[in-house]
Amino acid sequence: MSFGATMDLGASRRGAAGGPLALRGAGLLSALGHGAMDRGDVTPAEAAPVAGADMGHAAHSLPAIAGWVQAVRAQAAAILAEGGLPVLLGGDHSLPMGSVAAAADHAARLRRPLFVLWMDAHGDFNTPATSGTGNVHGMSLAALCGEAGLGAVWGEDAPAVVDPSRVMVLGARDLDDDEAALMAARGVQAVSVAAMRRDGMAALAGFLDRVAAEDGLLHVSFDIDVVDPAYAPGTGTPVAGGLEPSEAAEALSMVSGGGRLMSLDIVEVNPALDQQHRTARLTVGLMRYLFGTSMDWLRQAA
Ligand code: ARG
Ligand code: MN
Ligand code: MN
Ligand code: MN
Repeated sequence: MSFGATMDLGASRRGAAGGPLALRGAGLLSALGHGAMDRGDVTPAEAAPVAGADMGHAAHSLPAIAGWVQAVRAQAAAILAEGGLPVLLGGDHSLPMGSVAAAADHAARLRRPLFVLWMDAHGDFNTPATSGTGNVHGMSLAALCGEAGLGAVWGEDAPAVVDPSRVMVLGARDLDDDEAALMAARGVQAVSVAAMRRDGMAALAGFLDRVAAEDGLLHVSFDIDVVDPAYAPGTGTPVAGGLEPSEAAEALSMVSGGGRLMSLDIVEVNPALDQQHRTARLTVGLMRYLFGTSMDWLRQAA
């Protein structure tokens, strides 16, 4: 059950707000499979003035972002309550502070552990204190793991905290120094592209085994900049040395086979920076590997 959030205030460059339209236009619904539906775009909640939300340069646009995060959380929670699988179409990577919050609350209610697979070139584990940019999309995972700083984004209703030892960042290759130190201190597992190539998919396989062994639920947050910019140029913070499309497809196929997926984000697709829609098309094609609708899409597209 997909829904869009046309917001890019958490990023350094505008344009990811066009992601939902680009992803739908590239055939998202058919990739999600038979019976999938789209709920349209959410409207931001009236950003109620929350104490401490206006952080100026430390966290740009936080009050406005908070309104979007709250709307995303409400929509994801509604879909989960109906037994559906929420698919957030971003927008930038600050929006999952809403979708993962809904997943964490849902898992807590079911008394099952939530695992988060954050597929990203970045760790998004800065805080207002460590961030060099003040861009909130670089802080969202830290906030979800309970780091101080962005609590105001949820208003009065803080979600269940994600256990950092149940988080894997896959494809990481651009971590800021303080960010990397904080991730290590909290026990977030970061798997670089180099490590992935050295060990094959062993780390991901081990992570998925843990999800199963603990009867956990899995949230996947897919930042398209995990893929190499040679294939996915349409994104605001591209980093060389990313995944080959076949590697991303393999990872998503493994997640699919694990059968634990509870919710998904597709974020940071920026059509304003794209070339002939190829990033949106590739993103949607890759999602076919997660939803079992690939029919060997990469080979056919080649
Ligand atoms: N680490 C950098 C920052 O804090 C880049 C973050 C990029 N995040 C993203 N979701 N694309 O600003
Ligand atoms: Mn500034
Ligand atoms: Mn990200
Ligand atoms: Mn990223």
